[in-house]
Amino acid sequence: MESSVKDRSAELMQLEDRYGAHNYHPLPVVLSRGEGVYVWDAGGKQYYDFLSAYSAVNQGHCHPKIVDALKSQAEILTLTSRAFYNDQLGPYEKYITKYFNYDKVLPMNTGVEAVETALKLCRKWAYKVKGIPQNEAIIIFAKGNFHGRTLSVISASVDPDARNDYGPFMTGYQLIDYNDLDALKLALENKHVAGFIVEPIQGEAGVFVPDEGYLKSAYDLCKEKNVLFIADEVQTGIARTGKLLATCGNCDCHDSCLRKPEIKPDILVLGKALSGGVFPVSAVLANDNIMMTMKPGEHGSTFGGNPLACAVAIAALDVVEDEQLQANAQKLGNIFRERMQALVEKSDLVTLVRGKGLLNAIVINDSEDSKTAWNICVALKENGLLAKPTHGNIIRFAPPLVMTEEQLDDCCSIIEKTILDFQV
Ligand SMILES: Cc1ncc(COP(=O)(O)O)c(C=O)c1O
Repeated sequence: MESSVKDRSAELMQLEDRYGAHNYHPLPVVLSRGEGVYVWDAGGKQYYDFLSAYSAVNQGHCHPKIVDALKSQAEILTLTSRAFYNDQLGPYEKYITKYFNYDKVLPMNTGVEAVETALKLCRKWAYKVKGIPQNEAIIIFAKGNFHGRTLSVISASVDPDARNDYGPFMTGYQLIDYNDLDALKLALENKHVAGFIVEPIQGEAGVFVPDEGYLKSAYDLCKEKNVLFIADEVQTGIARTGKLLATCGNCDCHDSCLRKPEIKPDILVLGKALSGGVFPVSAVLANDNIMMTMKPGEHGSTFGGNPLACAVAIAALDVVEDEQLQANAQKLGNIFRERMQALVEKSDLVTLVRGKGLLNAIVINDSEDSKTAWNICVALKENGLLAKPTHGNIIRFAPPLVMTEEQLDDCCSIIEKTILDFQV
């Protein structure tokens, strides 16, 4: 890198350090452009993006169809608030409810807002429909969860970094072990339980994939007890795990999505890739018996359902369908894990690879508080691939789903070379 470019990058990093809150610890690279699976730094160096903004950029950076939708709508009407109707919202609501096969959608912006919405909806249903006494409703969460950063959501977190010094916390939550059906069964004995919220794969926790059949059995247990099964698919959803949704499980769709999921969550929470990473768009989907418990004035957001978001989300979902991204994620995911499994066998530095579709992680053979995973990510960056540790010694790999097999092959070679050359 030329020294003036290096200086400029250093200057830009210093600006963030000096004027921004220190609530993130980014890898030392300053990005200035993205296209498809690639991003470029301020000096013009090209990288494979192997994080996809935490699975928001499933459709690839600056997908022309999504950017066109953004540009065209931005020139006409961007925001009305929900004080008035707008001509994009109805068509979008029809489109997304047909796409995911629910009666209704409640549009929000960020993932955590959609999670909060789902929790509120669950409580409302508990009192209005299930008949749980006021203020007694309980929602079950799984330990290791990550549902975002608001106070109500971190109240259910077990991560000290997320919780420390933020109390007092929300009540009415119960935590059980992830992937533990006996624990769920026991918790469901309490008649005041209204819902169970779960990530089909725990992404932030380090891409923990539950046992085969866990989600279906958990769903069935909830149904037996008239408890809402809430799927937080903010990270796993929209083709990332090789199916349209991770809750699709063992659906009988093969090459193309026939919308025949194995289980259908009572409340589905989506975000991130719902806009292809172009704009914050999130959504909560449910059928009328749940959604219609909320009345005007009881919940909302100035930006939720804005015309720009609606146009962008339709384009982003169109891309998933047109380009059959779930099928590509499925195929490339299998190749990726095979290559990484071979690496596990060759290198003492990597102990494990796990994941589904193109949401994967490798576990580095070092303690959780070691710097090894971070240093490997710095070395990967030097070799032209961007990834980030999730928790200590786990590195998540989640490239855009528009990747070709040839590009994936190149990426696997970079990862293999970096790991094999790496000196602790
Ligand atoms: C499963 C899950 N839920 C919710 C969120 C929160 O989304 P956002 O950061 O858009 O608020 C995330 C973010 O990583 C997530 O992975």
